[in-house]
Amino acid sequence: MATSRARQPIERNIAMELVRVTEAAAMASARHMGKGDKELVDQAAVDAMRYTLDGVSMSGVVVIGEGEKDEAPMLYIGEEIGDGSDPKVDIAVDPIDGTTLLSKGLPGAIATVALSARGTMNCPRELFYMNKIAVGPEAKDVINVNASVEENLKNIAKAMKRDVGELTVAVLDRSRHQNLLLEIRDAGARVKLISDGDIAAGIQASLPGTGVDVLLGIGGTPEAVLTAAAIRCIGGAIQCIGWPRDDDERKAAVAAGVDLTKVYNTMDLVGGEDVFFAATGASTGDLLKGVEFFGGGATTQSLVMRSRSGTTRWIDAVHNFSRLAKVRFKD
Ligand code: FBP
Repeated sequence: MATSRARQPIERNIAMELVRVTEAAAMASARHMGKGDKELVDQAAVDAMRYTLDGVSMSGVVVIGEGEKDEAPMLYIGEEIGDGSDPKVDIAVDPIDGTTLLSKGLPGAIATVALSARGTMNCPRELFYMNKIAVGPEAKDVINVNASVEENLKNIAKAMKRDVGELTVAVLDRSRHQNLLLEIRDAGARVKLISDGDIAAGIQASLPGTGVDVLLGIGGTPEAVLTAAAIRCIGGAIQCIGWPRDDDERKAAVAAGVDLTKVYNTMDLVGGEDVFFAATGASTGDLLKGVEFFGGGATTQSLVMRSRSGTTRWIDAVHNFSRLAKVRFKD
């Protein structure tokens, strides 16, 4: 006799809707690849992202965006997006991480967006940079942003059942990382210098088989939140601590109540049970293929994930511009 089992309602995976947002941003900005104009690349991505995000049924507030209201006409911090229906969410966007890369036609620029329940995304916004360490699931319990590079790499290698010499550490190629590079090399690990784009590098560190095992170093604070959202879905860990650029920034942050000694764990940056993340390649890089145009359309590759199920999807899409135009502008 057949047993009747109560069926769970199919949950809505908003990440599947977000991927249309990052695809649109990547395609719009990729038109300006190599023109040498960062602002143009960013503006095209912002316009496309704002337009498509509004089509997602939600009540969203931008908490990581293009800046404060007076400096950004769209996707500014505090901007409300969506049709006001449930769920109530925080939105983090980096319309293009790697605007310089895309403006120069270099590899690795991606469009990214993340959502989580209202009030669950946090970072010391007063600080431009944070010092970061990010790894995948095997090493998630052994990292400590306050410990030495040598100690971290030893612990990570042990957790990953490797020698330190078999680890690859991604680091932004910046003069502020001179000492960090010496310490990594002294510890015996391999280094992959990246010219921009530490969200993609953080995702690579947390995914298996990407050729990057660890992300170390100082990068943007908003990027830390987007990386944390991706890592919440994949299952690794990120730890960050504020890194003031100078004494003025330090003083202003302290005056605003920022605790410069606070370590932000993955859950501090993005809490809650339901985190959604999507990224689409704009220029082809090690994580994602970039936008390729053909007569009448383009192809994209995206990474789409949500924390509750832990499902990671790689979505290859073919876009037909004339049909898309009819769908979008039919009214
Ligand atoms: P943008 O595309 O927004 O310029 O960010 C690129 C990036 O490389 C980030 O990935 C990284 O976190 C940050 O810039 C590092 O900042 P800086 O270039 O000032 O060192």
